[in-house]
Amino acid sequence: MVYSRITGTGSYFPEKVLTNAELEKFVDTSDEWITSRTGIKERRISEGETTSDMAYNASIEAIKSAGISISDIDGVILATCTPDYLIPSAACVLASKLGVKTPYSFDINAACSGFIYALGIADSLIKNNLGKNILVVGAERLSSIINWEDRNTCILLGDGAGAVVLSKSDEPGIRSICMQADGEYAEILTCKAGGSNALYERDSFDIESNLFTMKGNEVFKIAVRSMAEIAVEAVEKSGLSFNDIDFFIPHQANVRIIDAAAKRLNLDHDKVIITLDKYGNTSAASIPTALDLCVKSNKIKRGDNVVSAAFGGGLTWASTFFTF
Ligand code: UT7
Repeated sequence: MVYSRITGTGSYFPEKVLTNAELEKFVDTSDEWITSRTGIKERRISEGETTSDMAYNASIEAIKSAGISISDIDGVILATCTPDYLIPSAACVLASKLGVKTPYSFDINAACSGFIYALGIADSLIKNNLGKNILVVGAERLSSIINWEDRNTCILLGDGAGAVVLSKSDEPGIRSICMQADGEYAEILTCKAGGSNALYERDSFDIESNLFTMKGNEVFKIAVRSMAEIAVEAVEKSGLSFNDIDFFIPHQANVRIIDAAAKRLNLDHDKVIITLDKYGNTSAASIPTALDLCVKSNKIKRGDNVVSAAFGGGLTWASTFFTF
């Protein structure tokens, strides 16, 4: 039997910290509102570092921790909705920065669910003998699309990158992957900038309507239900049981959404990983960065069983149950 398993992890955040107190100075909000409604206290903001720069730093760490060389990488899959360019893909830019030539390097965009989608694609490639070590990255420079005048959204997002090496293995690693999408809700979370429609209308280009927009409370309601449901599905598909869950790594959008999903999984608080207080919502980067921070602090160890679930624009949602 061929399995895929995470053999290395890495993460990177820009140095600049933007606190809730600093946000209060230029947008009508308060630390109290942001903390009680979201759980976020601060986030990191890139000062010139691109998505591929951050992805590079996370990838170097992941490759090192997997105990392989850069030349052992068979493919690069980068989940992002803020690539450096439309063409080339951020994955190709990353591969070039790493100095590796691979049969395939490509981006995928499933917004905040992107990392789990990418992990699912990499898992299938490995099980179909199309690679032994695949670099799977979630990286975002969300600050580039933030509307700093919109208090509904600018307080939520942050920049960062997380990476894993997914390797062919004799022992089970990825036990289940579940993916869902529903374009009926496409308009409740958007960023139209950089798309061909926005670019076509270049004479009447209006930057504000091309930045990140979200009908937060509509997304919230669907997120609570969908993320909990798909997390349960990942456990049911895995061959393991709810009692086997050692840790839950949810997408870091809002602590209230996370609490609702954890309740559905009947999980104690100490099994639920929270990083949004320090990093905010980093979209596709939130799950791999949270995993790496837990590995670095020795919280998640080899053999631990981890459920992860995400929800984002598209709308998309996804989950996985894996043995680390
Ligand atoms: O990662 C991708 C998926 N994204 C998500 O899952 C995010 C899902 N949504 C959420 O997390 C929440 O809906 C938000 C955190 C975005 C908003 O929280 P909420 O409890 O749903 O608030 P709301 O949008 O219903 O707004 C409540 C009030 C409004 O005022 P009125 O109309 O009641 O007077 C807003 O104008 O809070 C106001 N408000 C703010 N007040 C202070 C909205 N943003 C702010 C702010 N500071 N930053």
